[in-house]
Amino acid sequence: AGDPIRVLVTGAAGQIGYALVPMIARGAMLGPDQPVILHLLDIEPCLEALNGVKMELIDAAFPLLKGIIATTDTVEACMGVDIAIMVGGFPRKEGMERKDVMSKNLSIYKAQASALERHAALNCKVLVIANPANTNALILKEFAPSIPPKNITCLTRLDHNRALGQISERLDVQVSDVKNVIIWGNHSSTQYPDVNHATVSTNSGEISIRELVADDKWLKNEFITTVQQRGAAIIKARNLSSALSAASSACDHIRDWVHGTPKGTWVSMGVCSDGSYSIPADLIYSFPVTCEKGEWSIVQGLKIDEFSRDKMDATANELLEEKTIAYSCLNNLHKL
Ligand code: NAI
Repeated sequence: AGDPIRVLVTGAAGQIGYALVPMIARGAMLGPDQPVILHLLDIEPCLEALNGVKMELIDAAFPLLKGIIATTDTVEACMGVDIAIMVGGFPRKEGMERKDVMSKNLSIYKAQASALERHAALNCKVLVIANPANTNALILKEFAPSIPPKNITCLTRLDHNRALGQISERLDVQVSDVKNVIIWGNHSSTQYPDVNHATVSTNSGEISIRELVADDKWLKNEFITTVQQRGAAIIKARNLSSALSAASSACDHIRDWVHGTPKGTWVSMGVCSDGSYSIPADLIYSFPVTCEKGEWSIVQGLKIDEFSRDKMDATANELLEEKTIAYSCLNNLHKL
């Protein structure tokens, strides 16, 4: 066990926060031997709840947890953090337009970006979960120019894991035997869950999912819409949005980023596009990536058919639109 790693969780008094912090304190994110110090940030109206979370963390007596900072002060929260998980944000309320939510989150992410840039550890890795996750990450990147763009990502691993789960249910195989699905694009209903390169490990080796699922119609329709709309289905069932699965996927995202992906396996991460697969550069777009020595790289050379191309472009176009809305909100912000 080395020095403790400092992990910031914003929105820590919320639902995902409540599921996520015990996972981090148990080692699900950074490994069973890695001590951690948790930095928990929320806003003033939630301070009492935040302190309640801190009390429970103390009560759970996690051996790996070496300290807890629970605060509403952004600078204090960001001080010296090695990993920043951005869960806090302004939720879209009924009747609110996308640009209204965007402008609220823009101010939040602008402030948090500057605080991270000034006070986080040098090589801090950032994971944005709060929606609109890709565009919040883009804003964070714009306002923290000294943080390398490679260090700023957003969560699409939940969608990736949902795709693995659907295939495993359909084929009645273990989810751990399914790999290399891809989520392309936005963490929204335009995302494209792609199984063209995915496989299942069987006694007779790795077999492609396209071969195993004979029903191409299911793969092209129901499978895609089930994954795209799984978030809405959870809200309908629970009256609350996904929290335990989001928290667990956030741990997967950081663990693989820090410790590397297994050989021959890739995962999906929202990362800054370098123009791979003709996706406009600088958008935060979900790609298949492998990770090694704390760095991700986009899997290259995958064959893209026409069906996939259309879907990859559609979700890129939605992100371009979000970017335009974000910039117009930004100009209004500057005019105030
Ligand atoms: P929640 O509403 O339970 O918690 C959000 C917390 O953020 C609240 O405690 C709130 O006080 C706090 N917060 C608001 N503004 C803040 C600020 N400026 N600084 C610090 N904290 C602030 O919401 P929940 O269910 O935990 O979800 C959090 C976010 O994650 C939402 O935006 C949701 O849409 C998104 N999400 C993203 C997923 C993904 O796969 N990328 C999956 C599931 C949810």
